[in-house]
Amino acid sequence: MGALGKRLGAVLDILKENAPYALFADVGSDHAHLACAAAREGIAKRVIAADINEKPLEKGREYARKAGVQIEFALSDGFSAIDGEPVDAAAICGMGGELTADILARSEAAKKCLLVLQPMTAQDDLRRFLYENGYEITGERFVCEAKKPYAVITARYTGKNTAYTYSDLFLGRVRPRGPEYAEYVKKVLSAAKKRLIGAPRDLDITRLIEDCQTQITNLSGMNF
Ligand SMILES: C[S@@+](CC[C@H](N)C(=O)[O-])C[C@H]1O[C@@H](n2cnc3c(N)ncnc32)[C@H](O)[C@@H]1O
Repeated sequence: MGALGKRLGAVLDILKENAPYALFADVGSDHAHLACAAAREGIAKRVIAADINEKPLEKGREYARKAGVQIEFALSDGFSAIDGEPVDAAAICGMGGELTADILARSEAAKKCLLVLQPMTAQDDLRRFLYENGYEITGERFVCEAKKPYAVITARYTGKNTAYTYSDLFLGRVRPRGPEYAEYVKKVLSAAKKRLIGAPRDLDITRLIEDCQTQITNLSGMNF
């Protein structure tokens, strides 16, 4: 796993399952660890590491040089500098859910490729965007790194919106088994309980708390 850790390791695993690609783009690449690992694993003919800031790109170039891998770099706000490229897989990882959704909303390329999304916060905002804007969430995977649970969402544009409940925004509609998902649900439950203090009559939050408790009870009875 090397520099990737479990969070980006899960992203790479999902990419590998669907490979090969003509062009993989890591949007918000920063250190370019994911882009370099993708190139090293040979999952795509071309790999682009794209970042809005020059400094991370410099860091990425240095990392790629040391790792001895050939990738391309693009100074790009979201997909803007690469929107005309034949991207068939893209990752947007380590950013907030709102920013991730905003990047997708401004891109045509995003509609034509496999998306692996790893929002650090506001997963509900990202799921809402996907459900309401013609993207199908084809998978959700959960991993714990340094005791923190992370969601990794796989999606594709189909043009069809998805009906959802308030709880789906926070828990997802794909509710896998496993201790990592149980940790994720506990985090959602704790945040929901805090929100209920400010809005004690909110039926959506009350229902979400019940759904979290049901999930936790079901998951705790399982041998993983
Ligand atoms: C916290 S780092 C995440 C790095 C890596 N993807 C990961 O998951 O570890 C976020 C990176 O996204 C870049 N970024 C922020 N907004 C962006 C945008 N609109 N378009 C492209 N890159 C962006 C930042 O410059 C930064 O390098």
